[in-house]
Amino acid sequence: MESVTFGVLTISDTCWREPAKDTSGPVLRQLIVENFANTQVIGNIVPDEKDLIQQELRKWINREELRVILTTGGTGFAPRDVTPEATKQLLEKECPQLSMFITLKSIKQTQYAALSRGLCGIAGNTLILNLPGSEKAVKECFQTIRELLPHAVHLIG
Ligand code: MTE
Repeated sequence: MESVTFGVLTISDTCWREPAKDTSGPVLRQLIVENFANTQVIGNIVPDEKDLIQQELRKWINREELRVILTTGGTGFAPRDVTPEATKQLLEKECPQLSMFITLKSIKQTQYAALSRGLCGIAGNTLILNLPGSEKAVKECFQTIRELLPHAVHLIG
């Protein structure tokens, strides 16, 4: 992949209060660095609050060199899970086939993947993917998207 910056946003009340409990964010950052040479990765943690999620996403979308945002957490059915709703309002284009692909692959690992509502889409020149919150889930989902990401970024231009 050409030299790009990734943003990894952990969305979790628990991890926001106790950053040491964030395992999926660090795992994602490590996977990105290991798999894509010449890439930079930045990370942050926000609570399950729509406004705060959007504030961070907007900041990253507006950075020209930041081309991919992977969020982790807040995609489920719990009352405070609002990651897809926060993301949706910022997207210029939704990419439902990409989220469907992630779901189809994930369901082969666990039927509980049907309980994730994660979205994928494009805002400006940034591809945003909502991944679930567990370490296991992000490892599986990253494997699924790894080969697609460079071409997706290239197509967005
Ligand atoms: N997807 C994969 N690939 N592997 C998993 O273990 N866990 C599921 C699902 N997606 C899982 C997965 C579970 S148990 C839940 S509750 C939902 O993601 C939502 O997770 P979140 O609320 O942490 O985002």
